[in-house]
Amino acid sequence: MPLSLIILAAGQGKRMHSDLPKVLQPLAGRPLLGHVIHAGRTLEPAAIHIVYGHGGDLVRAAYPDTDLSWALQAEQLGTGHAVAQAMPDIPDDHQVLVLYGDVPLIEPNTLSDLVQRAGEDGLALLSVHLDDATGYGRVLRDNAGNVYRIVEEKDANRKEKTVREANTGVLSTSAGRLRQWLSRLNNDNAQGEYYLTDVITLAVRDGVKVQAVPAPTTAEVLGVNDRLQLAQLESDFRRLSAHRLMRAGVTVVDPQRLDIRGEVTAGRDVRLDINVVLEGRVSLGDRVVVGPGVVIRNATIGHDTVIHPYSVIDGADIDSRCVIGPYARLRPGSQLAEGAHVGNFVELKNASLGAGSKANHLTYLGDATIGERVNIGAGTITCNYDGQNKWPTVIEDGAFVGSGSMLVAPLTVGAAATVGAGSTITKSVPRGGLTLERSTQKSYAHWSRPSKATIEERASTIARSELKDDADPTA
Ligand code: UD1
Ligand code: CA
Repeated sequence: MPLSLIILAAGQGKRMHSDLPKVLQPLAGRPLLGHVIHAGRTLEPAAIHIVYGHGGDLVRAAYPDTDLSWALQAEQLGTGHAVAQAMPDIPDDHQVLVLYGDVPLIEPNTLSDLVQRAGEDGLALLSVHLDDATGYGRVLRDNAGNVYRIVEEKDANRKEKTVREANTGVLSTSAGRLRQWLSRLNNDNAQGEYYLTDVITLAVRDGVKVQAVPAPTTAEVLGVNDRLQLAQLESDFRRLSAHRLMRAGVTVVDPQRLDIRGEVTAGRDVRLDINVVLEGRVSLGDRVVVGPGVVIRNATIGHDTVIHPYSVIDGADIDSRCVIGPYARLRPGSQLAEGAHVGNFVELKNASLGAGSKANHLTYLGDATIGERVNIGAGTITCNYDGQNKWPTVIEDGAFVGSGSMLVAPLTVGAAATVGAGSTITKSVPRGGLTLERSTQKSYAHWSRPSKATIEERASTIARSELKDDADPTA
């Protein structure tokens, strides 16, 4: 049976006190709705319908993806009414799975299990056992344990309120049946809403098999209504991500002090020290070591690479056996080939270092293509920006750039060339040999350090020295 997802996202989220619609609030670097869409897509549904509210154009604009269909619910008349808005686009022979756009941590396995249990002709809803289920709809079971109704908090009597099995809102059944039940809903209840939960009673009446399936974990079914709940789920996300990595063979020195805000894949025997932040898509090869305080965003790190403390790596592609930091900054477009070294206070932007090349101290390499086995001395700067334009620097294999060199781009340093320390290089450097740009060094044997003097004495010293030929430049 083809599967159609319906994601309810018409809620305003007043309690967020935000200009941003609730489902666009970020959790772990991605909007709440994005998490739900992502989880939903893993089921490979035939269609994903999102029910959005009045003024929710921002939500639509945030997801221009062509596999998403949008249904406007202009007035919020209840969850049953919301689901009904998406139904005209869903054929009778589809199975429907209803999700909430503000319940971000739902697990794909939980969803596929629920869809399977609903099957071709049943109804399955996801429930959760809570110590305090206040506010939730309660799952009512008869003596045999069969579900016969969900009662909302506001409609529940005292005995029903003691039930701890809560409705999560996630449910699955066939589109044909759901369409029928939805058309039979009324809003004759405490809130004057069309309750999706009332389809349970109708299903039971029609002799359809109804199952409430308890969720494997609580965090995955919790919704976000305010920023406290958002922070709580962010913390749950962190914990779950850390646990997932540890189960896959990563050593996490302190799971409480690892921040994952994206999708991380890691090889075997990776080690993550404290206060590491991993954002976006991060891939870590086998035996990668990440020191304390390192931030890695959208980067691939090859086998056996070591990242020393407090380095920031963003949009970089790093091969195996590289050594980075401490205090290195690799900006977008940085590429390190096998065995390259980037040391302390070195910044790379749109720059590639070939195999075995090293820039170990205090250097800026921007818009630079650097070959293999190149040594970049301390304090080297590619002067890539003239105030208007960015210019490229090419440094060929085996070159040695002395410390404190200014390489004023555009230029090429030829293969195996040596640039003398302290040079300001403004033209391309030929292959091999030594190129340097440096004024002649002078010594003044009889120079003495200044003594305390009045402004008048100082003026007369300068006047006298101007008469001499080889003036002491410091006088
Ligand atoms: C609903 C369930 C309740 C369950 C609870 C879990 C009903 C009647 N009640 O409660 O049994 O325990 O969720 O959190 O279904 N929405 C719309 N349009 C609407 C109303 C809601 O899109 O007209 C969306 C909201 O954006 C939200 C979701 O549906 O994502 C749930 O709405 P909310 O008001 O939070 O839940 P309740 O109706 O209180
Ligand atoms: Ca809610």
